[in-house]
Amino acid sequence: MGKPKVVLGVSGGIAAYKACELLRRLTESGHDVRVVPTASALRFVGAATWSALSGHPVSTEVWSDVHEVPHVRIGQQADLVVVAPATADMLAKAAHGLADDLLTNTLLTARCPVVFAPAMHTEMWEHPATQENVATLRRRGAVVIEPAVGRLTGADSGKGRLPEPGEIFEVCRRVLARGVTAPDLAGRHVVVSAGGTREPLDPVRFLGNRSSGKQGYALARTAAARGARVTLVAANTGLPDPAGVDVVPVGTAAQLREAVVEAAADADAVVMAAAVADFRPETYATGKIKKKEGADPDPVVLVRNPDVLAEISAGRPRPGQVVVGFAAETDDVLANGRAKLRRKGCDLLVVNEVGERKTFGSEQNEAVVLGADGSETSVPFGPKEALAETVWDLVAERLA
Ligand SMILES: Cc1cc2nc3c(=O)[nH]c(=O)nc-3n(C[C@H](O)[C@H](O)[C@H](O)COP(=O)(O)O)c2cc1C
Repeated sequence: MGKPKVVLGVSGGIAAYKACELLRRLTESGHDVRVVPTASALRFVGAATWSALSGHPVSTEVWSDVHEVPHVRIGQQADLVVVAPATADMLAKAAHGLADDLLTNTLLTARCPVVFAPAMHTEMWEHPATQENVATLRRRGAVVIEPAVGRLTGADSGKGRLPEPGEIFEVCRRVLARGVTAPDLAGRHVVVSAGGTREPLDPVRFLGNRSSGKQGYALARTAAARGARVTLVAANTGLPDPAGVDVVPVGTAAQLREAVVEAAADADAVVMAAAVADFRPETYATGKIKKKEGADPDPVVLVRNPDVLAEISAGRPRPGQVVVGFAAETDDVLANGRAKLRRKGCDLLVVNEVGERKTFGSEQNEAVVLGADGSETSVPFGPKEALAETVWDLVAERLA
């Protein structure tokens, strides 16, 4: 089998330079990339750069190499088309089926999955014309990545920034691996919690846990690549924001609860992958707790935190909402998992067996997903992404 064929469409935004990094990531990971820039894109980054980095000739219009009929062939042969950055103009053209250059022709002839990574000023992004064009493209099966919030072209900042190239690459990799042109979570809002909460003792100390957040981030990235609008409630992770995901940073269990409850109000699914502290110190010392000469330290009294998973499962603000919990067990994994599933009232419980190879922070995981309907789905030891895909398969079945 040859290398997967990717078309990288680049339209004329200031973020065109970031597409060079995306191109590198794609070629270095074994993809055959054909860059199709617009004429405006070449005003930002020249053809020599695209050609040298991709190893292919570069053209903006349909009149070069006409004997090879590139306006049809490039799209037909592609396994994935990704447009990054996608200008407001390009989204409008794609939504309306215009075909006045090589990239727009390619978008009409491609029958593979298509990803758009828009980047523009906030006003352009929020304009009803752009929003309707995005909705049209999503309805037709394209994955349109929500822009990031941050510094824009000038001194201003807001929503409209191109997500980091490494994160766009992650979306492309997942979309390409699935190979479907109708993402199954399109039009859905999903909430994922990730990381570990920290319960402060005083301004410098906290009670925490070893959760890295990697499993929750894998769930968020995977859901975005499957077309969902994703809210990621992230507790103390320090990981890069996944492309197209709305990240809500939190610290404590109480903050996590508030953020999850708020986001869950209109969510189709809530996946609680965060390690939420069961207990917190009863009192918080506003000044650093000092050693007292010759005296034992004061004991720390703990009180219970709210059980967010049980609360969300019981609440279900939206009919048909699917709730997924995570549980780490050391022994009698399935029996303990089943009991926990009943106690919490969720639809699915991902039971991790905690062991030597399965430590917090690892890139791999192994689990059994228990269903309230009695189902049991084993996910063998492998990347956290594979477990994430299985969780969304099971969620999508229940949403359907
Ligand atoms: C300095 C500069 C920066 C621009 N940045 C953007 C941008 O980030 N997003 C956007 O939608 N348009 C941007 N534009 C406007 C587009 O270049 C313009 O709409 C152009 O017609 C897009 O053509 P294309 O979609 O064929 O590439 C920018 C223009 C200039 C001069």
